[in-house]
Amino acid sequence: MCGIVAAVSHRDIVPVLVQGLQRLEYRGYDSCGVAVQALDAQGVHSLGLRRTRSTARVAELMAQVAQDHVTGHTGIAHTRWATHGEPAVRNAHPHFSHGPGVAPAADTDQPARVALVHNGIIENYEALRAELQARGYVFSSQTDTEVIAHLVDSLYGGDLFEAVQAATARLHGAFAIAVMHKDEPSRVVGARAGSPLILGVGQDGGEHFLASDAMALAGVTDQIVYLEEGDIVDLQPGRYWIMGKGGARLTAGQRPVRTVRAHSGAAELGPYRHYMQKEIFEQPRAIADTLEGLQSIVPELFDGVGADGKAGTAAWRVFKEIDRVLILACGTSYYSGCTAKYWIESLAGLPCNVEVASEYRYRTSVPDPRTLVVTISQSGETADTLAALRHAQSLGMAHTLTICNVGTSAMVRECELAYITRAGVEIGVASTKAFTTQLAGLFLLTLALAQSKGRLPEDKEQQYLAAMRHLPVALQSVLALEPQIINWSEDFAKRENALFLGRGIHYPIALEGALKLKEISYIHAEAYPAGELKHGPLALVDSAMPVVTVAPNDELLEKLKSNMQEVRARGGVLYVLADAKTNIDSSEGVHVIRMPENYGALSPILHVVPLQLLAYHTACARGTDVDKPRNLAKSVTVE
Ligand code: M6R
Repeated sequence: MCGIVAAVSHRDIVPVLVQGLQRLEYRGYDSCGVAVQALDAQGVHSLGLRRTRSTARVAELMAQVAQDHVTGHTGIAHTRWATHGEPAVRNAHPHFSHGPGVAPAADTDQPARVALVHNGIIENYEALRAELQARGYVFSSQTDTEVIAHLVDSLYGGDLFEAVQAATARLHGAFAIAVMHKDEPSRVVGARAGSPLILGVGQDGGEHFLASDAMALAGVTDQIVYLEEGDIVDLQPGRYWIMGKGGARLTAGQRPVRTVRAHSGAAELGPYRHYMQKEIFEQPRAIADTLEGLQSIVPELFDGVGADGKAGTAAWRVFKEIDRVLILACGTSYYSGCTAKYWIESLAGLPCNVEVASEYRYRTSVPDPRTLVVTISQSGETADTLAALRHAQSLGMAHTLTICNVGTSAMVRECELAYITRAGVEIGVASTKAFTTQLAGLFLLTLALAQSKGRLPEDKEQQYLAAMRHLPVALQSVLALEPQIINWSEDFAKRENALFLGRGIHYPIALEGALKLKEISYIHAEAYPAGELKHGPLALVDSAMPVVTVAPNDELLEKLKSNMQEVRARGGVLYVLADAKTNIDSSEGVHVIRMPENYGALSPILHVVPLQLLAYHTACARGTDVDKPRNLAKSVTVE
């Protein structure tokens, strides 16, 4: 999804801006650009606003700015993920306003008055565009963003901050913006409403930055201020100040500077071909880190983070007050929620609903204040999940908890309680280690809820804890199956369709396996609870349809075997993930990979790994862009 980096400094800031964009590449993008208050060859006189934009990778933008000798102390930069208008240079950010009556050539570099980058979506852009056109502004892109640049220009009376304040008051939708004006060469103004934006305080306090996340500033500064909804920030060398939603100037206490050690992730690929492969293999470590120090099941594991070092909300009190669970999430995180439903209902005895966040926020539901609302998110910035959380809160459901991989994210800040997974930075768009660590966190949550409801005897608690501690070792043995999965992937790479089957708690794992395959290999994949086959999807089965079956030795195994017979009888080829004692062996049309051990309630955490590897190796065999699959973004910060 779109990424912003901006800076004011006393040095040439272009390399920092472009390297910042490189660190944001993991979010997914289709074009990129940078604009600066350009300086002459002596680095003294201002030459006005200049920009370079490209539909190529950031590395090429870097080469382009070097070739054009673009330098400047003040600048804004952007990676764009297209929403309004195709991926094209004319739609790439930064957008310029030359003032009314100026019709810029398609991609002119003539000096402009305003330069702006934007993340998010402006919902009233058509009305604003018509209004600005009537006043003589000429549009050169198809984007919603360009209206903001012209709007700021139209409201400018000598003070950029005031112009941005007036312009943002007229915007409906979600945005994070960074803006420059040609008459104020050492100033950047930023604003945030609905899209993430952070402020970075430079090491010596002389330079300041804006960025979509702290990772963009890794190696530049670790002094981060998290801007909140409605904040407008004024950056100048040696000083910054923030105005809050109500129009008041905020104190340092209201927006504290936090030390955030973000790792760029770049250059850490090691022996792996792709970040996705690296992240799959990092799962034993990610789970071990997530569970580090776990001695016993205590509600305190989920206590709220608390602002400014103060204690957060106590989970034990909340767990006593709730008698049902509502899980809200998107994509892979939604499937971890679907898995958790089985645990929460069977072990904690609490009714649990799981809803796709983008649906929940728009439907009329029946709220119950005794509900624990659980959001699950790798990034903690997913717009749909955040909106669903706020919707639930607005319906009077105050007890909220997030399972999240980013401790400083909006999701953690806005939830009463939190469990921070320690998967580390996930770069590949396809979520892998975030999923398994979410499952670990959700299993712990289940046990903590069970305990608070008097349903977790001491011996059971010890058994589950032992199983959880053994997970990293168990995952290592599953990863050792990679060569067998590579054999399967050679068949899959030639297919255009695939079915995934599972039953019970392994049905969400089949769903996740299908999502992984379609996301990175572009093979059409569907998942069904195996018992549903005969109600429709069986019509799709023939010898050209590979059918992946997740078949652990559990209470549904015999039923599943019958479903597998239904597939074989229609010529379908089965690829079965079985485990010990299943009595399923390879035969004609049946390929079996045997999982090292049966893992009981925690089996989904192990069974998803071969499916991740299958998607990964199939995508490699098809030559797709594994870490940045087409049309997708890592962090989905727009609706
Ligand atoms: O950051 P989140 O966990 O909230 O993201 C939710 C989905 O966008 C994400 O899981 C997406 O489905 C992944 N690309 C799947 O691999």
